[in-house]
Amino acid sequence: MIQVLDKSFEIFITSDEIQREVRSLAKQINEDFKDEDVVFIAVLNGSFMFAADLMKSVSLSSEISFVKMSSYYGTESSGRVDELIGLSNDVKGKTVVIVEDIVDSGITMDKMISLLEMEGPKDLKICTLLYKPDAFKGRVEPHYVGFSIPNAFVVGYGLDYDEKGRNLDAIYQIKE
Ligand code: IMP
Repeated sequence: MIQVLDKSFEIFITSDEIQREVRSLAKQINEDFKDEDVVFIAVLNGSFMFAADLMKSVSLSSEISFVKMSSYYGTESSGRVDELIGLSNDVKGKTVVIVEDIVDSGITMDKMISLLEMEGPKDLKICTLLYKPDAFKGRVEPHYVGFSIPNAFVVGYGLDYDEKGRNLDAIYQIKE
């Protein structure tokens, strides 16, 4: 058992299990996009560890960009505006694979997809290490999923609890 801030967590997915699954996801991606021009787009902060490990096993000729989603209130008429920060690569006509740490309600992913569709990619795929199907209300289900997990809070391997715990090399589930 570990402690992060005021909460206790127990081991849920070990480092070995994560590494095995990440290699298997990369293998699938290598096979599916053999002859494609792929741009990986990793969503910060949560996906930094997953993206780094995934890319070590990706053997395609590819690019990676790390982006952040930002939400701000524009003028009264425009309401809330979502913006993608940090996309320096040209994705027009290319296959884009979004790399996420977790898809929960799917709201973040829906926004990412809408923003990226405006850039004119040939194809858009979603690769997420973790997926909570019981919480999902999104438009597009993730295409590549490492682990489907129950609807409970997890930390580690990039995922945080109030910004802490991202450095853990395994995934821990909250102890109720
Ligand atoms: P969404 O609900 O799919 O839009 O997910 C929003 C964001 O919430 C994710 O990108 C994560 O940063 C965060 N999140 C969702 N579930 C968890 C969790 O169990 N642990 C840590 N962060 C989470």
